[in-house]
Amino acid sequence: MSEDTQTTEHNQEKLPLIGETAPSFSATTTQGQIDFPGDYQGKWVMLFSHPADFTPVCTTEFMTFASMVDEFKAVNCELIGLSIDSNYSHIAWLRTIQEKIEFKGMKGLEVTFPVIADLKMEVAAKYGMVQPSEDDTHAVRAVFVIDPEAKIRAILYYPLSLGRNFDELLRVVVALQTADEKSCATPANWRPGDDVIVPPPGTCGLAKERVEGADSGGYACHDWFLCLKPIDKSELKLPPSMK
Ligand code: BEZ
Repeated sequence: MSEDTQTTEHNQEKLPLIGETAPSFSATTTQGQIDFPGDYQGKWVMLFSHPADFTPVCTTEFMTFASMVDEFKAVNCELIGLSIDSNYSHIAWLRTIQEKIEFKGMKGLEVTFPVIADLKMEVAAKYGMVQPSEDDTHAVRAVFVIDPEAKIRAILYYPLSLGRNFDELLRVVVALQTADEKSCATPANWRPGDDVIVPPPGTCGLAKERVEGADSGGYACHDWFLCLKPIDKSELKLPPSMK
């Protein structure tokens, strides 16, 4: 067991949490051997699991992800897939997708991002991707958004039956990058072009200043703790679909 792996009292590996360093791994993939984080210096990474190759929901997910690779690349985010299947199974499935499957107008799609063949469940165990109450031999639909410092920034887990919303996954990356670059937070349903939230003041004095200085500061306050300001889309690093 590697140094960055912790176990619970039941000897299950502890789920990595937001803000923690993402567990490192070396893995066999459809694009050759990869080492994380070493091969991903300076990049955002979306590490995601799917339950199994040659299954219907997963096939629609992979086609959708494959169609969006350039969108993720535009925001410096690399995709890494994973399931508890062999590399030959992955290769056969990805070839079938490219050669035979059409879904919502998408066809002939080549999956160019690496898909981990995690037959020994080593990576899945480090990331809590097998959740035995849902299924003890297949990974759930997990998504880890990891920043260039290898810190986990967002985690999503979906059950086997529920296909993910890939527009939302892209929005998560863009919102996290916007929050980092502009020192702000993003409100519910935020999309690029919408106002962002100014961090709330931490003292009574600053709260007074915030409300009194709202006009000159270029932000609009609903109350001292909820102030928004506009950010021009042109200031943000955005994928083509959000420009
Ligand atoms: C699917 O991708 O369709 C699927 C995979 C595993 C269990 C149930 C559904």
